[in-house]
Amino acid sequence: MKERLQAIENAALNQINEAKSLEQLNDVRVAFLGKKGEITEIMKCMKDLSAEERPAFGQMVNSVRQAIEEAIENTKTSMAAKLREEQLKSEVIDVTLPAKKSNVGHRHPNTIALEEVQRIFVGMGYEVVEGPEVEYDYYNFEALNIPANHPAKDEQDTFYINDKILLRTQTSPVQARYMETGKMPIRMIAPGRVFRSDEVDATHSPSFHQIEGLVIDKNITFADLKGTLAEFARELFGPETKVKFRPHHFPFTEPSAEVDVTCFKCGGKGCRMCKGSGWIEILGCGMVHPKVLENCKIDSNEYQGFAFGIGLERIALLKYEIDDMRLLYENDTRFLKQF
Ligand code: DAH
Repeated sequence: MKERLQAIENAALNQINEAKSLEQLNDVRVAFLGKKGEITEIMKCMKDLSAEERPAFGQMVNSVRQAIEEAIENTKTSMAAKLREEQLKSEVIDVTLPAKKSNVGHRHPNTIALEEVQRIFVGMGYEVVEGPEVEYDYYNFEALNIPANHPAKDEQDTFYINDKILLRTQTSPVQARYMETGKMPIRMIAPGRVFRSDEVDATHSPSFHQIEGLVIDKNITFADLKGTLAEFARELFGPETKVKFRPHHFPFTEPSAEVDVTCFKCGGKGCRMCKGSGWIEILGCGMVHPKVLENCKIDSNEYQGFAFGIGLERIALLKYEIDDMRLLYENDTRFLKQF
């Protein structure tokens, strides 16, 4: 009996020694210590022994069982340690490798310029509104006093969805839409994307952005227009900035003007930026034409107003001294993150 037990212990320890994985180790445990294992089996011999022999035999079986259990536990621990070591080795970090750059997003120069313009007008009590990019020919032209065969339509050729619907060529239709709501008085700006069938070059794009402005109230005069836009220019380009109103023609305003500001680069002396003139054109404006007011059901004897249109890209290019509009649309982050 004793020899048989010894043989079981030896066999078990041998197999434990040779086990290569936790699964194999578990197989050994089942084979020797399990319900149908060798140790359980040999316990059944108990009944053939005399009462005197039993305790000694029981002790022997127990010590063999303990030896096997201990061996299994120890092997398990060392296997786990080895596994962990291998894992650590395979997951070694090379601290000399260059780290991945985390690229943080950045506002586009157009966005920065727009937010600046909005800040200025909101500060003067203006509301910011929007209109559709796909617009009726009526709002884009007719309501604004540009009849079907008007030559101004030629300069603003665009993409037609059908003969009544087009991609808006200007943000001015938002004026008409807003006036139609009948809410008075009006102080609003309307930024947004506009479209023209222009070839791409350094100063043109078939899609660009404008910021429309409109004020309608009683007793609004050209002096209000001048004061407002002069203040806007000083806020945007610096307190030294002077403005010049040049007569111009827009069908929806009368009188109309284009506004120049003193070149913020040379202060008006003349440089490359202002092409030697000392002045830079920044927007178009005028007193809202009575016909436009009437088209929008506003009594032109009671109400007057002024309007203006600013090219957003133009402001961004000027402010950041960028000499090619195409750079704004290429989305090259090396360019964009400079602003
Ligand atoms: N819509 C004009 C354009 O695209 C710009 C403009 C000029 C808007 C004068 C106005 C204005 O509101 O009063 O050329």
